[in-house]
Amino acid sequence: MHRSVRLGVLLSGGGRTLQNIHERIANGKLDAEVVCVISSRGSVKGVARARDVGLPTHVVSRRDTPDPLFHDEIERLLTEAEVELVCMAGFACMWRIPPAFADRVINIHPALLPAFGGKGFYGCKVHEAVLAAGVDRSGCTVHHCDNEYDHGPIVLQREVPVLESDTPETLADRVFEQECIAYPEAITLLSQTLRAPS
Ligand code: GAR
Repeated sequence: MHRSVRLGVLLSGGGRTLQNIHERIANGKLDAEVVCVISSRGSVKGVARARDVGLPTHVVSRRDTPDPLFHDEIERLLTEAEVELVCMAGFACMWRIPPAFADRVINIHPALLPAFGGKGFYGCKVHEAVLAAGVDRSGCTVHHCDNEYDHGPIVLQREVPVLESDTPETLADRVFEQECIAYPEAITLLSQTLRAPS
């Protein structure tokens, strides 16, 4: 019997990535189900967005949750929700991936990794660095996560031109349009090869 892949979404900010995934599912364009949303901050727009559309949403505050509880609590919530694939969606913390979720965690980054990635390369800072470097292509990358920021085998990338007239904001918008295509594509691709965690 067919069953949609069960997604867990980890976020720390605005939640546009989660919203895109949710809308694609609602429009029948992505065969998946968001069964667990976890935010590392309580007061961000992503939490409000998730709750507004009725998604099961939890806050595991990075500031208030010491190690190893932070890592264990995220694993517990994902396991309890029977999550099969974890999507980092602007998650600004390092979650130590436990064995049960090895190969089941992906991230989207707004640049063509391995360039312009790593700790500190987040949101607009990425696009500022791309413009400062004077390159003529940027884009986004979906990759498997290991325990390094923005690191792990690449699933797919989508490119955009960098224009002379670009500001970090205009470039961010152009890249984000591609992120909205790339993440659902990657989820579809990976869900075909996933089996339930043991
Ligand atoms: C997205 O653009 C995502 O690519 C980026 O954070 C943004 C989250 O936005 N991720 C990274 O920079 C990872 N290093 P959102 O909170 O509105 O979804």
